[in-house]
Amino acid sequence: MPCQFSQQNRKYLGSKAMLLDFICRSICQVVSERLEDCTFLDPFAGTGVVAAFFAGKAKEVLAGDLLYSNYVTNRAFLCTTAQNADLDKVAALLRQLNALAGEEGYLPENYGNTYFTLENARKIQAVRERIAAWQREELITDQEYCLLLTSLLYAADKVANTCGQYDSYLKNLGQPSFSDAGVHLVDGLAYGALSLHPLVLKAGGACRVFCRDANKLAEEFAVDILYLDPPYNNRQYCDNYHVLENIARWEKPPLRGKTRKFDRTGLRSRYSKKRQAPFALRELVQRARSRYLFLSYNSEGIISQEDILAILQSKGKVTVREQPHSVFGGGAGRAKRRQVVERLYCCRVT
Ligand SMILES: C[S@@+](CC[C@H](N)C(=O)[O-])C[C@H]1O[C@@H](n2cnc3c(N)ncnc32)[C@H](O)[C@@H]1O
Repeated sequence: MPCQFSQQNRKYLGSKAMLLDFICRSICQVVSERLEDCTFLDPFAGTGVVAAFFAGKAKEVLAGDLLYSNYVTNRAFLCTTAQNADLDKVAALLRQLNALAGEEGYLPENYGNTYFTLENARKIQAVRERIAAWQREELITDQEYCLLLTSLLYAADKVANTCGQYDSYLKNLGQPSFSDAGVHLVDGLAYGALSLHPLVLKAGGACRVFCRDANKLAEEFAVDILYLDPPYNNRQYCDNYHVLENIARWEKPPLRGKTRKFDRTGLRSRYSKKRQAPFALRELVQRARSRYLFLSYNSEGIISQEDILAILQSKGKVTVREQPHSVFGGGAGRAKRRQVVERLYCCRVT
């Protein structure tokens, strides 16, 4: 296990961690102004790795996401300063959290022996309750709360009994990692003990983070560079990451079904609905107030390339850059990689 969590140190569908060089180099080549004079908005920030690349380089970086869990982790990685958090205190609190004994409660009742071993579920319960208590008693700042909670979310993700997303869990907790036929039964890391670590904080500079719909954010803020990385298929992120979202919110809602999901009304994205996605993108692009517009989308996306070009060309001249990229196949079972073409649409708004 690493002794620090870095921002890209999590399994996240559509993460651009492996494409940072392609995306960021392309953006820098297309934008003719000096980066330090430009504001940068990433309203589908996810893990925040793209926003983090520009933090400290651009004049100001704004990042947003619909999921509260991503808001917390992005605030932690992008907005920590010596003024809003005491990192020595956070390190000491992390040691206290790691030393806690596990507790019964909502988390082991709902996710024990499924998404997590019972022991890790009890530990997550104890840690999350303690962070909530420190926050309630105002013993930690908002930023320190984000740092501690992010460490818990990353630690939980490391020991989750999943294929990297939480639409379901692997059914065979207690068995070896792979069957004789090579089928993935249990992630071996799920048997490790939950362990929180400090975060690698590299992003310096002026950043603001939001938990808001991308279309609203793009309309609200006039920026120089708008980078769009919407979901490209019909798998909703609130389904794929519901467990982490539930731990982050800690409102303990009733859960339903075998996969123990909460009511995610309000978290479903139009970008993950085939019929609505082109309309959502057209609306965003028409309302956006930026001088450059970049869109990441891959060759398997639910919006056709023809539609994307028509939408973006309504704002200015568009060029397209491509890069082959290998992704994991979805679902449980033997992990297979397949090739897709990752596209970056670049538009200089006229
Ligand atoms: C492809 S991922 C972005 C990945 C990110 N660039 C990274 O490298 O980690 C798409 C993100 O958009 C978020 N999202 C989906 N619909 C949204 C919306 N309408 N407004 C804001 N965020 C949205 C999802 O929660 C998800 O984190």
